[in-house]
Amino acid sequence: MKKRVLITNILPPVAYQLLSKKYNVTWNKKPLTEEALAGEVGPYHALLTTLLEPVKRRVLEAATHLKCVANCAVGFDNIDIETAKRLGVWVTNTPDVLTEATADIAWALILSCARRLPEGESLVRKGKFKGWRPLMLLGRELQGKTLGIYGFGRIGQAVARRGRAWNMPILYHQRKRESSRVEKYFHARYVPFEDLLRNSDIVSVNVPLTPETRNRFTLREFKKMKKQAIFINTARGAIHREKDLAYALKNKVLFSAGLDVYESEPKIDRELLKLKNCTLLPHLGSATIETREAMATLAARNIDLVLSGKRPQTPVFQL
Ligand code: NAP
Ligand code: GLV
Repeated sequence: MKKRVLITNILPPVAYQLLSKKYNVTWNKKPLTEEALAGEVGPYHALLTTLLEPVKRRVLEAATHLKCVANCAVGFDNIDIETAKRLGVWVTNTPDVLTEATADIAWALILSCARRLPEGESLVRKGKFKGWRPLMLLGRELQGKTLGIYGFGRIGQAVARRGRAWNMPILYHQRKRESSRVEKYFHARYVPFEDLLRNSDIVSVNVPLTPETRNRFTLREFKKMKKQAIFINTARGAIHREKDLAYALKNKVLFSAGLDVYESEPKIDRELLKLKNCTLLPHLGSATIETREAMATLAARNIDLVLSGKRPQTPVFQL
């Protein structure tokens, strides 16, 4: 009997094509709620999930045959890792293949915020562009400004690498300091979190969402940042408190913010939606054709390795 795989959402067809050569694959094309997933999961040996499906304790405990949850995302905050470990279920993610695409989106947001692109675009589309004006929509220069990276991992470093093209000094903060070789390569300096806030012109959030990083940026942190600072979050929305960010932007505590992620996606704070000094994207970090295909391929490969009795290529923990 062929082993059974459930693909829980719409994905590039390559995942289905690869897996259906060897396995009995069910392809569900709408996101499943936790309850629905718990009801469905019983007969499956592997799940290929996206960040929209909550693979929580209830789901994992309802799975009698499950060997692997392959998340088609690098973030895995939608999965109960401790329960998966306890039950001996591999959890895998898709690191590296989406690093450059996500760093590009962070930079798209940085440029958009610094140069006020949404305001300019909206002015043109509304027919309000009456020609060049000496003081129209003046933004902030990026050359030589300090780029602060919170979470100097794969994506954080790719954001920093791009910053070198703007001659930006790089500050970073995370729990462990990088080697001096890495710091030299990126011209980056390790600083305490408070110093990162105080001294950066741009703060880019690139940590995973964990109990430690949840709501790490509240009004208190925004008030410690420079008045002309730009706040960028392409990691997870719950790392900043959205209401506090809206307040900070409205009251000019910050110059601008660029967000790809929100606290309760797809809901967005109403105040934030009204503000001009922010660029709001619909979670596009990894959204290129090449990257999404690579993510789907890697997720499918992880499932095939586990169901063939091997170690997956990109496990989130070791079993
Ligand atoms: P990564 O390589 O694991 O980097 C994460 C960095 O965060 C690490 O260097 C880690 O260093 C640091 N970190 C972890 N916990 C921390 C804490 N409590 N305090 C301070 N620093 C902490 O991950 P990545 O591949 O760069 O991805 C980062 C995140 O981006 C993902 O988890 C995901 O949520 C998000 N993402 C979003 C999109 C999108 O579409 N917008 C796309 C891809 C990824 P230490 O362990 O030393 O602290
Ligand atoms: C996207 O948000 C990811 O974590 O891959």
